[in-house]
Amino acid sequence: MTLRLASAGESHGPALVAIVTGLPAGLMLDREAIDADLKRRQEGYGRSPRQRIEQDRVEVLAGLRHGRTLGTPLALVVRNRDHENWAWGMSPWPPDGEPSGKGTKRVTLPRPGHADLAGVLKYGHDDVRDALERASARHTAVHVAAGAVAKSLLATIGIEVSGAVVDEPGLQVRIDEARADRDTVGGVVEIRATGVPPGLGSYATKEDRLDVRLTAAVMGIQAVKGVEIGDGFGLAELRGSQAHDEIGPDRRRTTNRAGGIEAGISNGEEIVVRAAMKPLPTLMRPLASVDLETGEPGQALVERSDVAAVEALAVVAEAAVAWELAVVARDKFGGDAVVDFVAAHRAYLERIEWA
Ligand SMILES: Cc1cc2nc3c(=O)[nH]c(=O)nc-3n(C[C@H](O)[C@H](O)[C@H](O)COP(=O)(O)O)c2cc1C
Repeated sequence: MTLRLASAGESHGPALVAIVTGLPAGLMLDREAIDADLKRRQEGYGRSPRQRIEQDRVEVLAGLRHGRTLGTPLALVVRNRDHENWAWGMSPWPPDGEPSGKGTKRVTLPRPGHADLAGVLKYGHDDVRDALERASARHTAVHVAAGAVAKSLLATIGIEVSGAVVDEPGLQVRIDEARADRDTVGGVVEIRATGVPPGLGSYATKEDRLDVRLTAAVMGIQAVKGVEIGDGFGLAELRGSQAHDEIGPDRRRTTNRAGGIEAGISNGEEIVVRAAMKPLPTLMRPLASVDLETGEPGQALVERSDVAAVEALAVVAEAAVAWELAVVARDKFGGDAVVDFVAAHRAYLERIEWA
């Protein structure tokens, strides 16, 4: 059974929704663990005051009974509490009454670095908000909830995934300085997965490659502009004798420059993925733009926004990596019930004699 995820939701719409299919039955989910990841996504130095409004919580509408999956589609919802301030502006149906609250005025000044200009051109919108609402990273909340579900599944076979900002002592100062200048910053995050056996992913086709799946998933997160596996770009400067991880008698490596993946397959070492985040594009001191209605030069939209979201990215990218590892683990070990999935994993480790 293939693990699949579909999501929907606008930044200031009523809710974010995800439907997960392909989970085995009998997996215990922990609401507090999911909510803890949602909270981690909202934290971090440099976030906007919106995070104080939201305080995300997961709701489960289907697929779960008394905390155990039923093997049926799992429906996850994260409500946008801020929606009550946008109820007229973001009403799914034509709103009743006079315009009130936020989002009532048409946005015509696209922000460089955002979906705004290309989005309105592509979809034929006359309000930039119709493009920016989905392009916003707000809906990463429900992907983090799905990632937490994936982590529960991975935990049954001893795989753990964690993400962190790459140690940068000056980050807080950089954020403070940018805030004072009404500017923004980016940063680098690193995701590590332990307990991954050799053999997840495949070299058989490009789509099956684990490195393709992981980099695409992480590149798919808003504001990520570079992704590397292991020593990635750094390998280009080395000789082959320095770059590759020699194989010991126990078939383990003494180094891990490959970041746990060779030829698109996990090799049993820790998986290491790094991602570079650009400085966020909504600036309180806006960049030059054009008014799409009048054609006059102007300044881009200013909207409540983070100065930095690099700590949040670490959580979102952790969820994305966990999700992809769960997909390839499901492909490899199958099973309608979680006990079958775990048994297939154990039998595989026995076959390859991997402790
Ligand atoms: C967790 C997270 C939070 C973000 N918060 C903001 C924000 O507050 N303001 C902003 O302009 N961009 C923010 N972004 C980035 C934009 O969503 C992103 O740059 C934009 O949609 C354009 O897409 P691209 O950068 O992938 O090309 C955030 C991204 C992430 C991952």
